[in-house]
Amino acid sequence: MEQISPGYKSARLRPAGNGLTATGSPGTSQPKCIDHQNGHPGATLYITMIAGVAALGGLLFGFDTGVIAGAMLFIVPAFHLGAAEQGLVVSAVTFGALFGALAGGTSSDAIGRRWTNIVAGISFIMGSAVSALAPNVDILILSRLIIGLAIGLTSVAAPMYIAELAPARHRGRLVSLFQLAITTGILAAYIVDRALAPDHAWRWMLGLAFIPGALLVLGMIPLPESPRWLLKTGAEQAARQVLSLLRSPEEVETDVQQIRDDLEQNTQAAWTDLLMPGLRPALLVGIGLAVFQQVTGINTIIYYAPEIFQKAGLDKDTTALAATIGIGAINVLSTLIAIWLVDRVGRKPLLLAGLAGMIVSLVALGTAQRFGSKIGVNPQWVGPIAVGFIGLYIVCFAFSLGPIVWLMISEIFPNQARARAVAISTAANWMANFLVSLSFPVLLALMGPSLCFLYAAMGVAASIFIIGYVPETKGKSLEDLSRQWRTQPVAIPGRQ
Ligand code: BGC
Repeated sequence: MEQISPGYKSARLRPAGNGLTATGSPGTSQPKCIDHQNGHPGATLYITMIAGVAALGGLLFGFDTGVIAGAMLFIVPAFHLGAAEQGLVVSAVTFGALFGALAGGTSSDAIGRRWTNIVAGISFIMGSAVSALAPNVDILILSRLIIGLAIGLTSVAAPMYIAELAPARHRGRLVSLFQLAITTGILAAYIVDRALAPDHAWRWMLGLAFIPGALLVLGMIPLPESPRWLLKTGAEQAARQVLSLLRSPEEVETDVQQIRDDLEQNTQAAWTDLLMPGLRPALLVGIGLAVFQQVTGINTIIYYAPEIFQKAGLDKDTTALAATIGIGAINVLSTLIAIWLVDRVGRKPLLLAGLAGMIVSLVALGTAQRFGSKIGVNPQWVGPIAVGFIGLYIVCFAFSLGPIVWLMISEIFPNQARARAVAISTAANWMANFLVSLSFPVLLALMGPSLCFLYAAMGVAASIFIIGYVPETKGKSLEDLSRQWRTQPVAIPGRQ
């Protein structure tokens, strides 16, 4: 029997074409190459272009989180920073992102997904300009907070915007472009840091983000609004116009009907409604995935790679930096595996395979460093073995938890609750990111290489959580997924 949760109305299908009045405009110019026949080559190109533009927010996310490590080498002497001020300059972004994510939930509902992405772009532009010109450390910290807000906004609005426009069959790979952009941004930051280091040009390192920020704003302006948000606000005509750019006429009718039905069955969720029994299981999955993405240790490597490589025996600065750039490149390339496979094999198999590889790598890394001499590993080999397993760990993260967490957070929630629930899950991701990065130096001093076993244990917990609670979302419409929560609120192990 269908379980209807408090706050949900009973299921009732209405024929398409009646009901809501048409208001608003999609804010779009119609591309000429749309082909509505089977295959839709024009539409596929158009939606890929839309996803590519929105994903520029991911590029800035990756660049701005990655660039600071190299820039700090020169900011510290320039402003004579003490330890506390250094911590503030670095962590202001993560802190800002936490609040930006929450603000992103409210603004994605109030002004729409498209405008929230544009506001994020404007904040990126302002933040990078101010940080490049900062006359003192207070202004620098303020600029890093603004960049953090922008990252928070984009990490909510960009994947959600792409997911709400994408056809179900390509949604996985289109939203994964966001992660591809994050990893490209991280790699670009490593390269820029390295290229500008001889000139101590930290202002350029920070200021270069201005360019993708401007491209994001200019690129988003002509793009359409999410049809799901338009229908939610009553702008049915505008929603139909947008859908007709991306779907065949029959698909437009089915989509409109399904979205309206989903909107009718759920009431607009206030923040506190997210804890109601009807939404709680989905929220648990969103927050769980978001937190597990961080507590399995990814950013200890992304943020501290040069130090880790030096400790692992690559003692020359240049070798450690080259290894860091190698890690950045592996991270980008392995994300392509997810883009290729996520709509074919599904989300859960990739998540579980990736986690298995991450656990093996972490255990091997910890064992080689902790017990290497006892089990007869030649000390000269400990460094290369460590680098090899760090590489494997990155490959496995990059085709699983990296892209699929952002993807699933943007697809598991009902239309009425999506923006706020995505915001809470994303804020949990940033909170976990903050705590893991903060605790890493302390835990490393306390536990040494055994810290790898702690992150591996988190990987085991993540796998159990995914098997037990996370539904497979491959190929299903967002409305099918919403219905699935109403009829089967708790995921059944192995359920498709
Ligand atoms: C995570 C970031 C991480 C990045 C590494 C993203 O999905 O959210 O915290 O730095 O992947 O590629």
